[in-house]
Amino acid sequence: MHTNKAPTITLKIPQALVSKSFWLENLTIGNRQYPRFMSAPIDGITDSPLRQLIREFCPKELLFTEMRHVACIAHKKDEKDVLFAPIEHPLCFQVSANKLDFIESAMEKILSKNVEMLNLNAGCPAKNIVKSGTGSALMANLPQLEKIIKLLTKSIDSAVPLTLKIRAGFKEKNALEVSQLAQDLGIQAIIIHPRTQPEGFTSPLDFDLVKKIKETVKIPVIFSGNVNSFTRAKLTYEKTGVDGFMVGRALYGAPWKIHEIKEESQGRKFEICTKKMLEYALKHLELASQYYGQGHGFNVFKKQVPLYIRKIEGASLMRQTLLRTQTEEEMKNLLKNELLKI
Ligand SMILES: Cc1cc2nc3c(=O)[nH]c(=O)nc-3n(C[C@H](O)[C@H](O)[C@H](O)COP(=O)(O)O)c2cc1C
Repeated sequence: MHTNKAPTITLKIPQALVSKSFWLENLTIGNRQYPRFMSAPIDGITDSPLRQLIREFCPKELLFTEMRHVACIAHKKDEKDVLFAPIEHPLCFQVSANKLDFIESAMEKILSKNVEMLNLNAGCPAKNIVKSGTGSALMANLPQLEKIIKLLTKSIDSAVPLTLKIRAGFKEKNALEVSQLAQDLGIQAIIIHPRTQPEGFTSPLDFDLVKKIKETVKIPVIFSGNVNSFTRAKLTYEKTGVDGFMVGRALYGAPWKIHEIKEESQGRKFEICTKKMLEYALKHLELASQYYGQGHGFNVFKKQVPLYIRKIEGASLMRQTLLRTQTEEEMKNLLKNELLKI
């Protein structure tokens, strides 16, 4: 007997079959394959210098740029936002947009840099962003979201896959509807941070919603939210069955985090000693200085240095001293002196 009713797909996660090899497998996005773990876009943190350090531990993982508005890309004379070191690839460039203006010229500029993927941000909760209808506000304006996706798709012209990063919803949870719409429009993977805009970054994550999305769409679903250890990645998988995992804040002062999680997934303990942490802090400072120029690079790095030393004995005093430094040289010398003590 024929019925028009769509079959109900029940997601079964065979616990015993979640083998160690699962965590090292690739997922397919468009016609390309990437490891299941990837770095999240974190504005002001996962910039080119940090991505270069992450790459030292993760040779094949997909890394994301921070969100940039298409108008900034199209207009900016300063090319920093589209300036990448060769080792940052494979790289997904994340854009935001609220209107159709500038999409085509921004895409032309971004694609000329040979990025491997494009991502549209429909998840940013910041007040100054959503008030212009950008970021997560797009989830409450599906006709506009649709227009933007269509123009992005046309401008990219199949050169690279287009993916979408969303929240559970703007004020109301509609991520399931948005994911279905995205799939119908040809989006090749959904990345979801399952909190609404007012829920910010700390309220409970809606695993059930993500499970429903995973059961409904055919494209890969990638989870973003508190994936800061292998235990959390495993729990996330058990609750949702997602295909991929994005690591965000856990990368602060720990460019090795994704590697650490993968090692743990194989039953190996990854430890990094104080000496190595300080060496990476120094390396990060140098990369920031090269990328942003001396004074600016030092200021950008200053935000991150406390994170490198947080597990070191006497971290609190050392943090205060490091934050009082006025120049790159001063900070370098302090870090080098600490290294000499080990
Ligand atoms: C300071 C900060 C900046 C962020 N910037 C971006 C961004 O530019 N684009 C984006 O899609 N998400 C951004 N996010 C969200 C993260 O990518 C991620 O979805 C969220 O932090 C949850 O993951 P986590 O718990 O692993 O950090 C940002 C988060 C924070 C805390």
